[in-house]
Formats: sequence, structure tokens, C-alpha cells
Amino acid sequence: MKIKSKILIIAGSDSSGGAGIQADIKTATCLGSYCMTAITAVTVQNTNGVKSVVSIPPNEIYNQIIHTAKDIKPDAIKIGMLHSTQSINKVISALNRIRINKIILDPVMTAKGGAKLISDQAIQLMKKKLIKKVSLITPNLPEAEILSGVDIKTKEDMIFAAKELIKLGVDNVLIKGGHLKLKKVYDVFVNKNETKIFNNKKFNTKNTHGTGCTLSTAITSFFSCGKTLKKSCELGIKYVNSAISTNPKIGKGHGPINHLNSIELKKIFR
Ligand SMILES: Nc1ncnc2c1ncn2[C@@H]1O[C@H](COP(=O)(O)OP(=O)(O)OP(=O)(O)O)[C@@H](O)[C@H]1O
Ligand SMILES: [Mg+2]
Repeated sequence: MKIKSKILIIAGSDSSGGAGIQADIKTATCLGSYCMTAITAVTVQNTNGVKSVVSIPPNEIYNQIIHTAKDIKPDAIKIGMLHSTQSINKVISALNRIRINKIILDPVMTAKGGAKLISDQAIQLMKKKLIKKVSLITPNLPEAEILSGVDIKTKEDMIFAAKELIKLGVDNVLIKGGHLKLKKVYDVFVNKNETKIFNNKKFNTKNTHGTGCTLSTAITSFFSCGKTLKKSCELGIKYVNSAISTNPKIGKGHGPINHLNSIELKKIFR
């Protein structure tokens, strides 16, 4: 496969390999994008939960972005876990300097097991400043509730909350419905002109570690190759759905999904 685009991922490391930077690199690679990284935090975790989170100094986050992007210009950027107000401020300064238009923000707040990954002040800063700089945000249900102030129990609530988020100044919103207790999964895409509900088969599995990171990076990869945001969301959701259905059933807790589901190896090295 030839490399189709270049993307920069700004996110945290997950030592278990199922989420975070590790999931992002696998996803981008399996969808044909060259992947650069700026690591924001290092987590010690496995499929049973998070043991610790150590932030990377904000200046180092800034330097990783600037130094990497001035050499290889990314076609798009995905932002994942940002741990503190200082790191958000530094990311905003770096984005202002490198001026890339296509930016996807996954406003990560908690890990699958419930561990909190961001401070309350950082959430406020994200809401006031960062989301205005990006093309799309991809909150899950609890994150959408926190950012919009809307209590979400139904598909209709998801649409209402997404519209409230548009009022905050972001152009496009995809609220992910993995946490809603319904028979199918619904992901709701909203911008000023349209509302689109993607619905899919819901798999009865605990192996959904990293679905959110994987989805936002898959969207970034498709978007970086020139697809529209709506189409990128549709294709990203298909990729994640297929990755859940073929999950390798490893780990004792919330196991990872199968990032490799999109590729077939044709070249054999002997
Ligand atoms: N059991 C499931 N079956 C099918 N699709 C699912 C399932 N769980 C999540 N998804 C899909 O995975 C994608 C990510 O949604 P989810 O709500 O899990 O994000 P998240 O909570 O941010 O994930 P993470 O815990 O990795 O941060 C969405 O497209 C959602 O529809
Ligand atoms: Mg998430």
C-alpha cells in the first residue's frame, strides 16, 4: 500500500496498546496514513484499568508539534487526551503557529474503566477556547453531557445536545452513542446545515477498549485524504464496527479491538 496522507496525532500513551497513541498509530497505518505524534501524557494501564497518569511537560508537547510539523506538514491533526490547562494552552499556541485547517478533537475525559483523565479547569478551557479551533469534536455520551449541560437519555437528546455544542462555536459535532443502553448504536453528526444519524449493529462484548480513540483517528485519516467530514465519520464508524466484531478477545478486562481488520498482507518476507 502506498502512503495516502500524513497526519499528526496529539494524545496520550496507553501502555496496554488498545487506546491512546498506540491505537491511533495502528488505525492511521491500517488506513494508509503516515502518522506523526506529540505525546501529551504517559499512562500505566491494562485492560482492567488505569494505574497512573504522568503528564509530559507542556513545553515538550509544544516542541513536539512545532518541530515535527515544520519538517513534515500534516494534512490533518487529531487531538486526543489533554491532561491540564497548561497543556491545552500550549497546544493552542502550537496550532496557531502551524496553521493546519483540518483538526479533529476527541475530548477525552475518562478511560473505559471510569478513571478521570482531565482536570475540571481543563474541561472549561477546552469548552471556551479549544473547540472553536477545530473542524469536528467527537465526544462520547458523558463528555457530551458535561460540555453541553444536557442530560442525554435518548437519540433525540443526542441531537439536541449536539446542537447546543454547535452554539458553543464548533462547526461539526459527532456524539458517539456507545454508552447508550439501546439495542442498536447510534452516532449523531450535526452541523449548521444538517443532521445525520448513523446506526449500527450493537455487539454484546466487553472488548471495546479504545473504540473512541480509534474512531477519531479513522475519521482524521479519511478527512486527510480529501473525504468530506460526514463521509469520513461514516467510513470511520464502519471501520470501528468491523474492528469490534473481529476483536481478538485478549486481556482480562475491557480488551482491545482489531485495528488490522482493514488490511490483507500480500507481500511476504522470507
Ligand atoms: N458495543 C458496541 N457495538 C457496536 N459499536 C459500538 C459499541 N460500543 C461502541 N461502539 C461504537 O464505537 C464508536 C466509539 O463510541 P464510544 O461511545 O465507545 O466512544 P468512547 O466512549 O469515547 O470510547 P473510549 O472508551 O475508547 O474512549 C462509536 O462509533 C460507537 O457507535
Ligand atoms: Mg473516548
